[in-house]
Amino acid sequence: MEYVVNPWAGKQEFDIERLYTEFGIEPADKLKDILQEPPYFFRRGIVVGHRDYEPIAQAIRDNKEFHVMTGFMPSGHPHLGHLMVMKEVVWHVEKGGNGYITIADREAHAVRNISWEKCKEYGKEYLLCLYALGFTGKTYNQSTNAMLNALTFEASTKINFSELQAIYGFSQETQVAHAMSVITQVADILYPQVDLTPAPTLVPVGLDQDPHIRLTRGVAHKLRMFTVEDRKDHISIRSKNAPTNVMDELWKQFRGSKKYEGHIDIPGGDLKNVKEIVRRIELSAGGYGFVTPSATYHRFMPGLQGGKMSSSIPESTIGFFENEPSIKKKVLASLTGGKPTLEEQKREGGNPDSCCVYLLNLFHMISDDNELGELREQCESGTLTCGQCKKETYQRTIEFLLDFREKMDEVKHLPEEK
Ligand code: TRP
Ligand code: SF4
Repeated sequence: MEYVVNPWAGKQEFDIERLYTEFGIEPADKLKDILQEPPYFFRRGIVVGHRDYEPIAQAIRDNKEFHVMTGFMPSGHPHLGHLMVMKEVVWHVEKGGNGYITIADREAHAVRNISWEKCKEYGKEYLLCLYALGFTGKTYNQSTNAMLNALTFEASTKINFSELQAIYGFSQETQVAHAMSVITQVADILYPQVDLTPAPTLVPVGLDQDPHIRLTRGVAHKLRMFTVEDRKDHISIRSKNAPTNVMDELWKQFRGSKKYEGHIDIPGGDLKNVKEIVRRIELSAGGYGFVTPSATYHRFMPGLQGGKMSSSIPESTIGFFENEPSIKKKVLASLTGGKPTLEEQKREGGNPDSCCVYLLNLFHMISDDNELGELREQCESGTLTCGQCKKETYQRTIEFLLDFREKMDEVKHLPEEK
């Protein structure tokens, strides 16, 4: 059966194997080896897949320009389920990336029917969290960014209904605004390259967002004037919609090259170098010169009752502003990977990998790898009871939140200034 990933479905299990084999997402297990100091979300298998992460790793290693961009739909208050992607963005900004955050108010309005007023209010809360984590860079709302909307229109010249139907399962009944919000996201992802300069762009997202990434990578390619291909004994530059005078100019750049109808062949030469020259000429001729965007895909931290952490399931979700008694109650009542009786637990141990308490620690509450390893060991050997474990996890969570709130308080002026 055909496998369609729906970014707007509430609850989803991902068939990661099919995402690898059918959609070309690459497994992320090697990412920790290509960075000097891999962050914990690579070390601990939280990021499970990627597309084209190598150019990002290379930019980090060589201190070259790159962007990191992601977005948040302001359909409710931010909660712990949003923290992972925020940390991924901030880590890449600290490594030298130009940070961009979009508040997807168009999407929230079109798909979730959220009023513009509410979008603003929630949007600011997301930004507050990001600033508290140390984010620096640009932020905007989709609905009020004129340059973004011009780019959205341009992107829409390369997308037709049957493509939207194939990727998202859209039908005759689908609202046009829904389709427009999708194309707005395409523009979001390309925006840093228009706002600043063409460069590798990382989009850290959850697995559910891959359809948007696929669509955007296609559009980025279609909006180029040229494609450059390595044909082993020569490099071929093909014109897609380049004006003839730009073709001529390009031809002059490469001594010994041959110009044909619609393409130029260069005997030998360095592919990377040729790509850069082509990009520069395309830019100066008014083209975009996009670098195809990259993505990392993290898996979702489960809610406290299993399933998804989502504001529509309060008993599963920990809000950033929630009070202590309420959080305590939820954490102590959460679904564990423990055995039904204490005796069994002592004899056989628990199963941390299917325990949302363990995963809460793995995702956010224990930063030290050894300490996390110890927790796993104690759980599996049955020396730790779930009751004790939940109490300790609650303590860590509250400590984290109190500290986080203090940080939010220190930066509370920042979202207003934007
Ligand atoms: N669709 C995303 C979500 O539901 C939000 C979003 C909008 C986004 N634009 C983006 C994510 C650009 C990454 C990049 O959360
Ligand atoms: Fe989960 Fe902790 Fe129980 Fe292990 S001991 S199953 S980690 S709650």
